[in-house]
Amino acid sequence: MRAALPATAVGIGLRRPHLSSLLALAEGGPDFLELAPENWIGVGGRWGRGLAALGERFPLVCHGLSLSLGGPDPLDSTLLAEVSLFLKEHDVRIYSDHLAATSAEGAQLYDLMPLPFTAEVVAHTAARIRAVQDVLGRRIAIENISYYGALGGELSEAAFLTAVLAEADCDLLLDVNNVYVNSINHGYDPRAFIAALPAERVVYYHLAGHYRQAENLLVDTHGAAVPEPVWALFEWTCQTIGPRPTVIERDFHLPPLSALLAEASRARSILQRSGFSA
Ligand SMILES: [Fe+2]
Repeated sequence: MRAALPATAVGIGLRRPHLSSLLALAEGGPDFLELAPENWIGVGGRWGRGLAALGERFPLVCHGLSLSLGGPDPLDSTLLAEVSLFLKEHDVRIYSDHLAATSAEGAQLYDLMPLPFTAEVVAHTAARIRAVQDVLGRRIAIENISYYGALGGELSEAAFLTAVLAEADCDLLLDVNNVYVNSINHGYDPRAFIAALPAERVVYYHLAGHYRQAENLLVDTHGAAVPEPVWALFEWTCQTIGPRPTVIERDFHLPPLSALLAEASRARSILQRSGFSA
């Protein structure tokens, strides 16, 4: 049985430039690390040894990039077998991927394509998530993505997400920045969206920064510090849903590790004062 992360634990995404700084930390580090298995499967040598050493010191969670849970192609059984082994080898606490399509006709899109919000797509995607969970022998979490062109459908986004979670019987990685970005770009109330989700399925949160291209157009870049409106929405979410393990995501314009740890510390304070007993 995998040990659960404390609800007030805060992790950061593992990026290779930070690997040696993480190993050199004496104290005050992250509570856990998140990594993309696709970036680490089969990696040996110096990086492989570094990952093994980090795994001795920090609990790991995995956030996948390419399962294409809502996509049209057959599930990638080779990738699934590799991921299954990786999760066991590194005692990974949580495995998540995106509620999106990431490949089509055998080609990786290297992007997260949104899904139409329809009952047909709910059934298709939920069946694939159940198949993934059967292969892995564990529950997975799916992440709400940011998207820029809605594909339509008879369901609202929250109803679609809730239906997939119920039909697949899986968990939710709630990306608070993605909700905020979508709320600006698509003109909805982010609090109403979050309040409509099943709180009991939320197993962890993501926080990230974005780029403001125009007043009503935000781009989810993961290339900046978490901005104040996202912190405010995160605090409200913690008070409404409760504290959950949280990851500070940062993929571009990597700051020094100390800057990410300062954001992690702020997130931890918010989780601790959320008013729920952890
Ligand atoms: Fe995310």
